[in-house]
Amino acid sequence: MDLFEYQAHELFARHAVPVPPARVADDPAAARTAALGLGGAAVVKAQVKTGGRGKAGGVRIARTADEAQRHAAAILGTTIKGHRVHRVLLARPADIQAEFYVSYLLDRANRGFLAMASAEGGMDIEEVAATRPHALARIPVDAEEGVTEAKAREIAAAGGLPDATVPVLMALWRLFAAEDALLVEVNPLVRTTGGAILALDGKVTLDDNAAFLHPGHAQYAAPGTGTGTGAGADALETAARAKGLNYVKLDGSVGVIGNGAGLVMSTLDVVARCGAAPANFLDIGGGASAQVMADGLEIVLGDRDVRSVFVNVFGGITACDAVADGIVRALELLKSKGEEVSKPLVVRLDGNNAEAGRAILDRAAHPLVTRLDTMDGAAARAAELATTVSGGH
Ligand SMILES: Nc1ncnc2c1ncn2[C@@H]1O[C@H](COP(=O)(O)OP(=O)(O)O)[C@@H](O)[C@H]1O
Ligand SMILES: [Mg+2]
Repeated sequence: MDLFEYQAHELFARHAVPVPPARVADDPAAARTAALGLGGAAVVKAQVKTGGRGKAGGVRIARTADEAQRHAAAILGTTIKGHRVHRVLLARPADIQAEFYVSYLLDRANRGFLAMASAEGGMDIEEVAATRPHALARIPVDAEEGVTEAKAREIAAAGGLPDATVPVLMALWRLFAAEDALLVEVNPLVRTTGGAILALDGKVTLDDNAAFLHPGHAQYAAPGTGTGTGAGADALETAARAKGLNYVKLDGSVGVIGNGAGLVMSTLDVVARCGAAPANFLDIGGGASAQVMADGLEIVLGDRDVRSVFVNVFGGITACDAVADGIVRALELLKSKGEEVSKPLVVRLDGNNAEAGRAILDRAAHPLVTRLDTMDGAAARAAELATTVSGGH
């Protein structure tokens, strides 16, 4: 589970990782009050679970509380890389002298942990890794020993970080180990003109498999932790989880539903090859019932970024006629709820009882449903519909 920055910030503070004073706000007036509490000036930061917020206009410096209110009004409700902003973090501005990068992560390939550190923090670390790999130091960390003072010195020296970061590197490791994190990343970790070291941004991924050891982590998954209402990425993922669906929101406009993770993954690839971007991953599973198809369609159609939907099913345990029934029933269900579908669906059915399934769709003759029998043809059609269909819902 990925945390929002403000949640990472709380964890940092709890584990003695130095952070600037900060507060959250869900509306512009609250942002003004929060800025006043910080002394007036504040960095207003969109709380979305994606990086590169600065470049996308989601991080703005305000010199006064009134300006903070205006920035919050401009940021709240916008969408950054498909994630709607429901909350902002206001942090006291730091006088940055230098920006660094540091992270700890599980290194599955080497069955251990890895520290990464760089003196080229603040900017796109993926680009540093790709273009100047020597500028990003990678130091294995032994799971038993962890980050001792000697290890912290080794990491700082390898990454070109000042000695003053050593206690922070140790505190970050204690957080990483104590909370059962899979990733803790600070970009940027800064040195201020006054010589203090501060974590100005934080990304934390917790290990869901260790959730039973940390009852406190449940609060991060709970709705109402900044997810708000509406069909934002988090609201959709929460709704999907409640229905037991395996759903991940993506950035594009072609909704994808399939049965079996492998088929869905290749469907995403085929959609991308057709020049469109998938809006989500949704696996309704190998033994999915008609009801599950209905639930899945409701989630995907509820995503306002979706322009067309590609349902790609290979009938197995659940035969194609059951899936076709599910599609027809879902469309009726949505209509009866007053949420009549206005987005085109492209359906490809193959495998067990494919003919019967296709016949059900043909009989229903829903004006927005197109049936195509090959994966490539159906993907191309869905991609085309996503680019020609006008916006709205
Ligand atoms: N409290 C702060 N004080 C001063 N500058 C900040 C503060 N927080 C962020 N910044 C600046 O904004 C940049 C982007 O913010 P960051 O939190 O890293 O968001 P993202 O990584 O999503 O773009 C940072 O690299 C830093 O230069
Ligand atoms: Mg950052």
